[in-house]
Amino acid sequence: MPSKATHDPNQVTQGKNWMIQDRYTEVKDLPGHEGEQVTIAGWVETVRVHGKVAFIVVRDGTGLVQCVLVKKELSPAVWEGGTEDLSQESTVQITGQVKLDDRAPGGAELKVEGLEVLDRAGEYPIQPKEHGVEFLMDHRHLWLRSSQQRAGLRVRAEVTQAIHDFYYERGFTRIDTPILTGAIGESAGTLFSTEYFGETAYLAQTGQLYVEAACPAFRKVYCFGPTFRAEKSKTRRHLTEFWMVEPEVAFADSEDNMRLQEEFVTYLVERALDRCSEELEVLERDTSGLEKVRPPFPRMSYTEAVEFLQSRGSDIEWGRDLGGADETILAAESELPTFIYNYPTEAKAFYMKENPDDPRTVLCNDLLAPEGYGEIIGGSQREDDLDRLLTRIREEDLPEEAYEWYLDLRRYGSFVHSGFGLGVERTVAWITGRPHVREMIPFPRLMNRLTP
Ligand code: 4AD
Ligand code: MG
Repeated sequence: MPSKATHDPNQVTQGKNWMIQDRYTEVKDLPGHEGEQVTIAGWVETVRVHGKVAFIVVRDGTGLVQCVLVKKELSPAVWEGGTEDLSQESTVQITGQVKLDDRAPGGAELKVEGLEVLDRAGEYPIQPKEHGVEFLMDHRHLWLRSSQQRAGLRVRAEVTQAIHDFYYERGFTRIDTPILTGAIGESAGTLFSTEYFGETAYLAQTGQLYVEAACPAFRKVYCFGPTFRAEKSKTRRHLTEFWMVEPEVAFADSEDNMRLQEEFVTYLVERALDRCSEELEVLERDTSGLEKVRPPFPRMSYTEAVEFLQSRGSDIEWGRDLGGADETILAAESELPTFIYNYPTEAKAFYMKENPDDPRTVLCNDLLAPEGYGEIIGGSQREDDLDRLLTRIREEDLPEEAYEWYLDLRRYGSFVHSGFGLGVERTVAWITGRPHVREMIPFPRLMNRLTP
């Protein structure tokens, strides 16, 4: 065994070699070790024995590798360890020689010289056959290991990293906003509340009010974290806990806000196409539509959208918020995401800026993803007029005291500002072409699911 592959903690914690991957070679790096002897560790996906030759496919979290055992070249103990009762998902450590092979999954194969079973797995519940979604969700802690789930979550990880990179590169300061809050952020209808030392606390529906407060301190800010909505809908677009990124920009109006959204969404799509091509292939995603995503995105006012829907036979009336089915019809008009802007005041949240050209509406927009993935962004210019904001808080019957601090932002240096929120799971569902947001988060929280 090479000196790298050791369990001696004194050796591996010294100097630069402290990192765990130095104990073992990672499967993704095998092609760089042609002809060398390496040791890997991982989990058994499949075992096939053909007489005196056996093949074990091992997953180490960085890739898959086929390990070849030739009976006559191995001690009986190694041969038996690798062929008899080596159950799926058992943990193994394998030493062998790297052979390049274009047909192999990661471009390399291991000719086994030593094998140790670190843990023998019991009978694995997930078998290569059709399981119902509820069964798979009950076993989400194990389902994560399967190839399509791994691919989807890798794309999510790339997209979340890209989110931070995008704002970092543009000089935004990240603001971490609270999860326990005393004021309703978005709407009273979907609040989770909890007792808080004699008061009521709400789980944050949004970090927006807090990034607005940080705006005069840092000018361009964003928050990114979990948000909570007690959604009683069992659709493929709704989670009760989802991740949202919310930028907020001082001296930006609704037009600037939409331009930032176009640039941002294009960046995320490009990053996924660029760095997750293998994952998108595993997911069998047809990327031809995604490759066309670039600014400008088509724009339609809410009023135009209603007229368009009515012309298609919809019974929607001006004033009502658009539903999922309406959004699908509107988004089907383009391969690009579509902006719908300036909704009626009564359909939207209290903090949106009244439209000076049509006070029945507010300066806001939703961004609808193509292919029926629905609203991925909601954004607006914020009401910067103290009296107008107070009136809206009263009209919505919100407890004024809870917004005193928020109103201070209009008392002490009010300014034009805008921002938006992009839902990560809906965005990743669109990019990966997966039908349901529940697969786009490692452990989804849904109306009927709190475990695992
Ligand atoms: O449109 P929403 O409610 O906007 C806000 O929360 C604003 N405070 C954002 C802002 O201006 N800073 O939510 C924004 C996005 C939606 O477009 C959608 O992508 C996602 O969050 N979203 C959900 N995703 C999954 N499950 C749910 N229940 C969601 N509710 C909203
Ligand atoms: Mg919305």
